[in-house]
Formats: sequence, C-alpha cells, structure tokens
Amino acid sequence: MGYKVVVAGATGNVGREMLNILAEREFPVDEIAALASRRSLGTEVSFGDKTLKTKDLDTFDFTGWDIALFAVGSEATKIYAPKAAAAGCVVIDNSSLYRYDPDVPLIVPEVNADAVVGYTKKNIIANPNCSTAQMVVALKPLHDRAKITRVVVSTYQSVSGAGKEGMDELWNQTKAVYNPTDDVPPAKFSKQIAFNVIPHIDVFLDDGYTKEEWKMVAETKKILDPKIKVTATCVRVPVFVGHSEAINVEFADNLDWEEATDILREAPGILVVDKREAGGYITPIECVGEYATYVSRIRQDPTVDNGIAMWVVSDNLRKGAALNAVQIAEVLGQRCLKKG
Ligand SMILES: NC(=O)c1ccc[n+]([C@@H]2O[C@H](COP(=O)([O-])OP(=O)(O)OC[C@H]3O[C@@H](n4cnc5c(N)ncnc54)[C@H](OP(=O)(O)O)[C@@H]3O)[C@@H](O)[C@H]2O)c1
Repeated sequence: MGYKVVVAGATGNVGREMLNILAEREFPVDEIAALASRRSLGTEVSFGDKTLKTKDLDTFDFTGWDIALFAVGSEATKIYAPKAAAAGCVVIDNSSLYRYDPDVPLIVPEVNADAVVGYTKKNIIANPNCSTAQMVVALKPLHDRAKITRVVVSTYQSVSGAGKEGMDELWNQTKAVYNPTDDVPPAKFSKQIAFNVIPHIDVFLDDGYTKEEWKMVAETKKILDPKIKVTATCVRVPVFVGHSEAINVEFADNLDWEEATDILREAPGILVVDKREAGGYITPIECVGEYATYVSRIRQDPTVDNGIAMWVVSDNLRKGAALNAVQIAEVLGQRCLKKG
C-alpha cells in the first residue's frame, strides 16, 4: 500500500529528477502521473524502469490523489496548486510563490522536519531556493552547538538553476565561441554566460540586492532562526549542475574549526571532504547525481572573535530541489498521511 503521486513539471530539470529520486528511494507509490504543459502532451519520461507519457496539467483532476510534487514555476503554480490543494491533494511546491506565506511551512527535513504538521492550513508545503537548502543543511548543526549570529555567503550557481533554457544557453554559447559564425546572444541570462560569470540572479530590489540574495536571507530566517543575520552575493557561473558557496559564519559561543569539522562529519545529509591538499575538496562536477551536501575548506576566520569559513557544494537539482521535495514527501507520509 502506498500513495497516489503526481509530478507536475515532469519534463523539466527538476521534475525529471523528482521522478528519478522517487524511484531510487523506492517511495511507496501506488500510482503515478507525470504532468506538464499541453505542449508536452504524450512526451515520454522515465520513472525507474517504466516510461510514463505526460498528461496536461491544465485538464488534470487531482481528486483522489494524495501528494503532488510541483516544479512548474510561480505563474503556473498560482493557477494549479490551489486547485490540487482544494481537491485534497497535498502540494509540495518548488516555486517561490508560497515560501514566505506564514500559513505554509518551508521545510528542509534535516533542519525543521517538525514544521511539516503546519501543512494542514493550506494543504501546501514549500521547498526552499536551491542555494538556501544546501546552506541551512550545513549551518544547522553548527547553530545547535554555538548559536550563529551572522552569515556572509557568496554563491557560484550553475545554469541548471535557471531551468532547461539556461542549460541550453550555456551549451549553445560555448559551441559558438569555437565557431564564430554562430551568434548566440544572451536571452535567459543578462550577459554572455559562456566563459564568464554574472553577479545577478533574479530581479533587482530597491536596496541594490537581487531577489535571489533576499531569498537566502528570508528563507534562512524562516527555516533556521529569525535572529540570524545573513548577507549574500549570488553569482551565476558557467557550470551545468552543482551550486557552490563560500560561507563565513560568526557564532555567539566559541567554536574552533576542528570541532566544527567533527560536528559536520556527524551531521545528517553532510559529507565532509577536507584534506588541505591539492584536490582535497569537492567541486560541483563531483556532486552531480549525489544526495549529499559536501563541506570542504573548513578553517578559522581570524578576522572575528568566533568564526569559521567553509566551502559548501551540492547538486542543485537534487538537494536544492527534487531530493528535498521527496524527503518532505517521506516525512509527510511517515508522520501525517495514511497510505492508500
Ligand atoms: N533548477 C533548480 O535548481 C531549482 C531549484 C529550486 C527550485 N526550482 C524551481 O522549480 C521550478 C521548475 O524549475 P526547472 O528548473 O525544472 O524548470 P524547467 O526545466 O524550465 O521546467 C519547467 C517545467 O514546468 C512545466 N511548465 C511550465 N509552465 C507550465 C504551465 N503553464 N503548465 C504546465 N506545465 C508548465 C514545463 O513543461 P513543458 O516542458 O511542457 O514546457 C516543464 O515541465 C521553478 O519554480 C524553479 O524556480 C528550481
């Protein structure tokens, strides 16, 4: 006995990974539906060793379905998530639409799984931004030990964070660099991304920060602790999959880098790779297809009384999106829902 599960956005970067991860982790599925836009009607997607044909989200009836994993962007979510929720299907949403709604829990299971019970207010649970998810996994065990007061983070975010169009743009521009007769002007990104880095993700806000940077601040406060001060600089880099973050953390209590390393080694969802020699750290290409949040380069920050610096890398399509959503579904199933 299991659940009737819907994946909305099944033809996208995150939706395809959701189907992979549901199959890999043997989530108890009695029946599964893969949905996308009408453009993709009948497109085949893989679910373990099965092939599913995608159906149209617009005409899908959610009545009788238990859980819907949504990865369709905010505009489509606004239309279809309330319909699914009203039909009694619990929505786990990857867009930013509901993340800051006080009646919707925002969950990273390694950090605040207990918040799942709050789903009943709207029948919706939100999944955080990819950069926030991996950062709070690394911050949580350190916060429990020494109370984090301030975080300074710079991100190095892969193009898959901007959907399949972002990946196509990097691929086509990279090829065009070697074939100057091709011209691939920026479309998804604001400047050329191939052989470049762009300090701009999502729209600019009045204070000069971008919305992506604001999300890291607001979501860390909601998931981990509203008292933690966070300042972020979010940068798009020409990497296909895998987000990296250089993080400086300040604590109220004393914590040296060796104890921080020991704590991180024991923490759920984390793998420490930190040899202090050439190659003794993780780079994004090595985290692709993995579940873990990797932590490397753990060292003292000598410019503050109690602080460390570290390098955190994870697969943004997995821990940053699809894996986290499936983990939420697992918690929901274990604690709140009855099977079929
Ligand atoms: N990529 C990441 O690292 C990441 C991390 C966290 C959260 N997210 C969020 O996850 C969501 C999906 O991102 P993605 O990277 O998977 O994007 P993507 O690769 O561009 O895929 C978008 C998916 O949404 C479907 N879709 C779009 N508009 C639709 C509509 N009106 N009706 C039905 N289906 C529609 C698309 O279907 P068609 O193929 O038929 O167009 C496709 O399956 C976004 O909200 C994004 O912000 C992404």
